Amino acid sequence: MVKKNTCIFISGNGSNLKNLILSSRSSNFPIKVSLVICNNINANGIIYAKKYNIPYIFVNTKFKNHENKIFYYLKKYKISFICLAGYMKIVSKKLIKKYQRKIINVHPSLLPKFKGLNTFARMLKNKEIKAGCTVHYVSEKLDSGIAIVQKKFFIDKEDDEKVLKNKTQKLEYLAFPEAIIKVFRA
Ligand code: GAR
Repeated sequence: MVKKNTCIFISGNGSNLKNLILSSRSSNFPIKVSLVICNNINANGIIYAKKYNIPYIFVNTKFKNHENKIFYYLKKYKISFICLAGYMKIVSKKLIKKYQRKIINVHPSLLPKFKGLNTFARMLKNKEIKAGCTVHYVSEKLDSGIAIVQKKFFIDKEDDEKVLKNKTQKLEYLAFPEAIIKVFRA
């Protein structure tokens, strides 16, 4: 199997990045993590790029032209697939168009519910019964692309934001690799 050169975009902790790197080590997993792009110089997730010898770059999204740097490196590493894994910036229409159906994101809610930020606080406030995660294609509208995989759980009475995040992320570690397999099987 020829694995697709994939770039993972991160901003923070990088636990999904780590999980995707480990998944991609299996010979029949469709992607190879070839590049990591990070917009936060203090992101913990960079330790996984270093540990597993994956090239990484930082971009400063404060600069208007930062996407030129992104495009340069995507080309350099022949990237044909992108995973947004906790990348807390909105990517440009140009990038989405170039990677149509080849750019996916993980979101910590059962989309279309709770798009955007602070999902867990809003779920609790809303007295939701279920929570979960969605891996979806990235489209021009925030958190609105077609869902590929969704996984849910029932919220316990005593679950606070931290617990919800933990439970959600455990599901993300299953959903993200599953979604990638699905994308390339389609
Ligand atoms: C993930 O839980 C992901 O769902 C969320 O950020 C976390 C990153 O965790 N993404 C968003 O909220 C995007 N709107 P990680 O850095 O440990 O993978």
